[in-house]
Amino acid sequence: MLMVRNLYKRFNLEAGFFAREERYVYAVNGVSFTVGDQEIYGLVGESGCGKTTTARTIVQMYTPDVGSIHFTEQSGKTYNVHSLGRSELAELRGKIKYVFQDPARSLNPRMTILEILTAGYRYSPYWPGPKQALEEAKAVMVDVGLQASDLDRRPADFSGGQRQRISIARALMVKPELLICDEVVSALDVSIQGQILNLLLRLKDEYKLSMLFIAHDLAVVSYISDRIGVMYRGLMMEEAQARELTARPLHPYTRHLYAAIPQITVQDEAVRTATRRFREVPDPTRPPVNIDESIFERSPRPAEERTSAGGTVAASDMLEVAPGHLVSPHFADPV
Ligand SMILES: Nc1ncnc2c1ncn2[C@@H]1O[C@H](COP(=O)(O)OP(=O)(O)OP(=O)(O)O)[C@@H](O)[C@H]1O
Ligand SMILES: [Mg+2]
Repeated sequence: MLMVRNLYKRFNLEAGFFAREERYVYAVNGVSFTVGDQEIYGLVGESGCGKTTTARTIVQMYTPDVGSIHFTEQSGKTYNVHSLGRSELAELRGKIKYVFQDPARSLNPRMTILEILTAGYRYSPYWPGPKQALEEAKAVMVDVGLQASDLDRRPADFSGGQRQRISIARALMVKPELLICDEVVSALDVSIQGQILNLLLRLKDEYKLSMLFIAHDLAVVSYISDRIGVMYRGLMMEEAQARELTARPLHPYTRHLYAAIPQITVQDEAVRTATRRFREVPDPTRPPVNIDESIFERSPRPAEERTSAGGTVAASDMLEVAPGHLVSPHFADPV
């Protein structure tokens, strides 16, 4: 349903007038993955590894420097996300919805819940008129575990968990096919996290949703996801079915993330030594691997051309060690 291929995104740091050369933050450095129809794909990695940048590029908040993003809706129609006409753009905006981390800041405190739920919907090609929209808003409220009578209230009347339900309800109003959940439970306490995760699992079935579920917490991602991609410094380190990854994490960075889950302590000295390198905070202005800078000079290009660009190892070239289980050679030990 979603196909991200060889995505690169770097940010130009405001260089001073006397600065001799431009400086960049290398946020995403050749990321590829797919999300299947009604699949939950978990993207996990530490703060600053490029998860939000990847997600924002998918919803066109950023233009990719290199790479392509394709979305195929359930009817079979395919969109090349970054080259769309105006009407297709409006259509696509209804198909992919983004739920943000901080419900307090993403909900306008002056609006009623009904106004919040219908604000974006009103200007979409799917707007059915105020009467029908009210009925839909009532139904969606019940679907996310709130009450239809809550529609007259304002965000301040709700707890953090309830506000996150409102954010999810807003996303569901246009009946999207892909939901991008970016750290949606990170601001909530653990017991509420579980409720929201279970809600998302139920809504996935009821609304036939695909999900890109982003979090820095591997325990949360392992719980909800069908398949998981592990990111580090803008690169994909490992990808596998959630169960396979939990049972057999192969890349040292993945093992490092598992070791950070409080209940799991890694006794193995070899694992501890191998993962020590991930304890330092990396400098994002230093590319994690050798990047052929000439790829940024041309406009976004398809992935096929990438390896011919230079002698460097393509960042997304992972090794398939078992069916569907991919491991990066970067930051790993010789096999
Ligand atoms: N608009 C921007 N301008 C400049 N640098 C940016 C911008 N957005 C992100 N960055 C930088 O790009 C890198 C990746 O950031 P990103 O927000 O994608 O990480 P993340 O994985 O979502 O982290 P977190 O878990 O903290 O949300 C970071 O070094 C960040 O400082
Ligand atoms: Mg983020």
